[in-house]
Amino acid sequence: MPVIRSIIKSTGSYLPEKILTNQELEKMVDTSDEWITQRSGIKQRHIAAEKETTADLAIKAGHLALDRSGLSPQDIQGVIVATTTPDQTFPAVAVKVQAALGIPPGMAFDVQAVCTGFVYALATANNFITSGQFKRILVIGAEKMSSVVDWNDRSTCVLFADGAGAVILEAQESEDESIHARGVHSTHLYANGRHANLLYTDGGPSSTGQSGHIIMEGREVFKHAVQCMADVVAEAIEKNNITPADVDWLVPHQANIRIIESTAKKLGMSMDKVVVTVDHHGNTSAASIPLALDEAVSSGRIKKGDLLLLEAMGGGLTWGAALIRF
Ligand code: UT7
Repeated sequence: MPVIRSIIKSTGSYLPEKILTNQELEKMVDTSDEWITQRSGIKQRHIAAEKETTADLAIKAGHLALDRSGLSPQDIQGVIVATTTPDQTFPAVAVKVQAALGIPPGMAFDVQAVCTGFVYALATANNFITSGQFKRILVIGAEKMSSVVDWNDRSTCVLFADGAGAVILEAQESEDESIHARGVHSTHLYANGRHANLLYTDGGPSSTGQSGHIIMEGREVFKHAVQCMADVVAEAIEKNNITPADVDWLVPHQANIRIIESTAKKLGMSMDKVVVTVDHHGNTSAASIPLALDEAVSSGRIKKGDLLLLEAMGGGLTWGAALIRF
């Protein structure tokens, strides 16, 4: 019996032109390059221009993924954008991407799961494809986190950043039921709203009428992140009857190098099998995994046939993982 799987047909990404270094941040708040580097691993990040919106970033990333796929806009039936920083309360960023790229009328909506957003969006698209409802979906993670950062709060403004990454998922039938077949093999999604007060914005349309600013209990989120990531990657490995040695690349959410190293260590994976972009991207929330994926694919490190383990954790708290044969 042939199995339908969603394969990653192509990737794309976009980073705003402006780079903000730790040295520049030293002039803005009471911080130091040393503190930021030691505690988070971040050296620099990209920040969108004032008039540049999340949709602008998403459109550029989506455009590149579409170009590289060799497909035409007419071949795409759906757009899912993971974002927590939409241009407007509504409509969704996804409909702007659909219109700008000339994708015909079809499904388009946003997913809001903060830093885990891309894993949620990928899982959603994968379910539409494996159920046979759609053949190709453009999945994007895009954020303008700089728009919800309090630039006077040194505990958060040094961490978050802007960018967008995209993948095109395509249905592919295969007789191969093994882990060697290309495509998404499993996705694992979690949330625990009891910890919503650890990472949130102090505003929103139905409360203050403003989007608000990020408030984070960094140390507490850190502890949960280390545990949740370890649990969810272990679940992905167990579910697929593989061992960590079978995984070619860990593509983690890029919040903090220490969290990434901890997950790699628990898996017994050396850091040269981990895609790290946090040093030059910062924490771009839902954009971080597709940005890291595109960077590693574009540089030739991730190759067709490699087994990828994606994992993320963020506000909600939400967390998740996906195992994919690229
Ligand atoms: O992507 C969504 C998920 N988010 C995460 O995964 C983030 C998880 N948390 C973290 O990555 C880390 O907790 C942080 C990088 C946010 C902070 O690192 P930490 O080692 O947990 O530091 P801390 O919050 O315990 O703060 C240590 C000290 C404090 O001073 P006292 O109380 O020890 O005197 C802070 O006031 O560092 C101080 N501090 C700073 N100092 C210089 C906080 N921010 C800064 C700063 N520069 N920017």
